[in-house]
Amino acid sequence: MDKLVVTGGRALSGTVDIGGAKNAAVAIIPATLIADGPCVLENVPSISDVAVLMEIMEELGAEVNYMSAHSCVIDSRGISRCHVVNDNARKMRASYYLLGAGLAKFGHSCVALPGGCDLGERPIDQHLKAFEELGATVYVDNEEAVVYVDAPHGLKGAHIFFDIVSVGATINAMLAAVRAEGKTVLENVAKEPHIVDVANFLNKMGADIRGAGTDVIKIRGVAKLRGAQYSIVPDQIEAGTFIAAAVATAGRVKINNIIPKHLETIISRMREVGGEILVDEESLIVSRRSVLCATDVRTMPHPGFPTDMVPQFSVLLSLAEGTSTIREGIWSNRFRYADELIRMGASFKVDGRLAVIHGVEKLTAADVMSTDLRAGAAMVIAGLCASGTTHVRGVEYIDRGYEDFVNKLKGLGADIERIALPET
Ligand code: EPU
Repeated sequence: MDKLVVTGGRALSGTVDIGGAKNAAVAIIPATLIADGPCVLENVPSISDVAVLMEIMEELGAEVNYMSAHSCVIDSRGISRCHVVNDNARKMRASYYLLGAGLAKFGHSCVALPGGCDLGERPIDQHLKAFEELGATVYVDNEEAVVYVDAPHGLKGAHIFFDIVSVGATINAMLAAVRAEGKTVLENVAKEPHIVDVANFLNKMGADIRGAGTDVIKIRGVAKLRGAQYSIVPDQIEAGTFIAAAVATAGRVKINNIIPKHLETIISRMREVGGEILVDEESLIVSRRSVLCATDVRTMPHPGFPTDMVPQFSVLLSLAEGTSTIREGIWSNRFRYADELIRMGASFKVDGRLAVIHGVEKLTAADVMSTDLRAGAAMVIAGLCASGTTHVRGVEYIDRGYEDFVNKLKGLGADIERIALPET
């Protein structure tokens, strides 16, 4: 157990490189299971969710070899069945992608019900509905908290209309359908950049997926997928987090290795609240144009404002002139971090999925918790803006999705240290 010690008051300045996207990597790694040969992955983020997933792949029988910090070869040919019921699967959300991948490769899979950040209810009914429509039998053992999916005679293409837009269900359905017999049509799907990235990877392996990034994805099943070499897209939420940190501290930061198209909504909102953002082909220069201004924002599936930027954006709104509102459109319990920001002096009122934030002149250092991954990053940004020294606990949440967060911030001049806490 570690904590971060952040002393506020320094404007961030310098250059930071964005890593590969967590939510693409955690789907692409399980997808390698379907290949009949080794896959070479590049731009793999070095984060704990990826480390846990690599361990799961090795426990299943895959060989994972890193050639450098961000490139590895995954050879899944040693895997003969897909049973993942240990604690590793329960530690993270993305272990559920082994359901779709296992179905595609072996016609069966069983995976412990997934964990992940507590953002409210996180059902997987849409994933299971897709598997059933493709012809699988689904059994959920609620006592053991394990999901079994079975299609001993293979899957058959189907027309699936999702009741809600789900990133996880869209990816799981694509994974399962790539080797199903015939044509699958997925409607009302998610359009996040990581959906497109997973589809591109599967296509490089020989799949036939069209329409990823739109509301309808069409898949023609193929008999086999081969190994492929693939570079994972940059993480738009990591980029958004550094944009927020630069604007919040009124710094000047060059953010490299980004895809501007993926950041359009975030950039436009950051400009609206006082950020100055110059966009180049693969980089941004972020500074502050004016005092921070209040705004009203609603989170929505891509291309809407992403829920995973809400905590970081809240820090800006906490310091903005006027009253802002955030309506959370994805998770029922996104604002668990509100009490932590209030402890730092923010004026934050939460009513279900609505937060009303009255801007204050300054935040003051406090001992705070990371209540989830993005909330952890937000606490650090708040600490960078606050007067005094803030202590942020729950660093393991931040480790799940931000590579080398402390060193990247130090490289921008932040006064931040990671300190090991004695075991209690
Ligand atoms: N939902 C259902 N049934 C389902 C699936 C989802 O009702 O079968 C609901 C959820 O409860 C939620 C909404 O649909 O209200 C959207 O959930 P979605 O399935 O899109 O989320 P997810 O796949 O579980 C991914 C990211 C999250 C991110 C959300 C929304 C991964 C591993 N996780 O979760 O990322 O918040 O999409 O964009 O891709 C993070 O990175 O910090 C993070 C939490």
